[in-house]
Amino acid sequence: MLIKRPSDIKSSEITDEAIYLRRREFMQATAGLALMPLFGAAVAKTSALAELKFKKNSKLSSSETLTDYNSITTYNNFYEFGTDKSSPAKHAHRLTTSPWSIVVDGHAKKTGKFDLEDILKPHSLEERIYRLRCVERWSMVVPWVGFSLADLIKRFQPTSKAKYVAFETLHRPEEMTGQKRSVLEWPYVEGLRMDEAMNPLTILAVGLYGKTMPNQNGAPIRLVVPWKYGFKSIKSIARISFVEKEPPTSWNISIPSEYGFYSNVNPEVDHPRWSQKKERRIGEFLRRDTLMFNGYAEQVAHLYKGMDLKKYY
Ligand code: MTE
Repeated sequence: MLIKRPSDIKSSEITDEAIYLRRREFMQATAGLALMPLFGAAVAKTSALAELKFKKNSKLSSSETLTDYNSITTYNNFYEFGTDKSSPAKHAHRLTTSPWSIVVDGHAKKTGKFDLEDILKPHSLEERIYRLRCVERWSMVVPWVGFSLADLIKRFQPTSKAKYVAFETLHRPEEMTGQKRSVLEWPYVEGLRMDEAMNPLTILAVGLYGKTMPNQNGAPIRLVVPWKYGFKSIKSIARISFVEKEPPTSWNISIPSEYGFYSNVNPEVDHPRWSQKKERRIGEFLRRDTLMFNGYAEQVAHLYKGMDLKKYY
């Protein structure tokens, strides 16, 4: 992954304290409003983001200071719109997110092509405040709005042959102009082992800060796996496949010596070119220690019991 040194980070990328102090006010306002129908105006190309109806899941949420909205939506990795952190915010408005459909295929009783509205209908949304820790050693705390991936998976009734879940981002170079360059193999692909996908922490997110997902953050629907490096959290999902074998993943295809399938946040396993022991929280000056499984060890360490995490990095 391309790396930005702390000295390259502009002051505009640091949390504005005034914005942070107004966070509670903002959250109360967004949570209490009369809410628009899910995804009505929200997914139109240029329309303002719609308020979402959701419940806070405090049990599964971090109580850390939220990263400000501006940083979350202007400091992005979304190579389909360029490799600079600032490119997605500039170019992702080109992506048409409505209509949107997702192909579900592979080893499951129910498969097919489904409109996003039909995918979302049975799910009630929750706000989950999760850390997003990038392998590039920066992290954020994001109030995602989404629902449990496990609940979605159950609806499609995967068979016993489904050992992994593979995900694919949309491939539409006319709108995702970064796809005209071969910086990665397109479409972007990712995968999870079935038990990782079914873990209660794993969500599909459709919004953040109480509103529908900004395009640059992966509209209209993306994965968030809080104990793994951010790159596992694939954006703008167009295909979900139930597969028997470990699926290919974009960063592993691109640089296999640096990125493995598991990609758990693990301060004990250095990236070949830099240590993973510390991180810089966007909005803070001093670096902090990176926690095993990004602080979610209690919920997920059992998934990797007996595995050599230096080998399965
Ligand atoms: N998904 C797609 N389709 N394309 C990408 O380039 N980048 C990944 C991940 N999902 C990426 C992607 C990386 S490297 C990170 S760190 C996170 O998205 C960043 O998410 P954010 O921009 O919402 O912070």
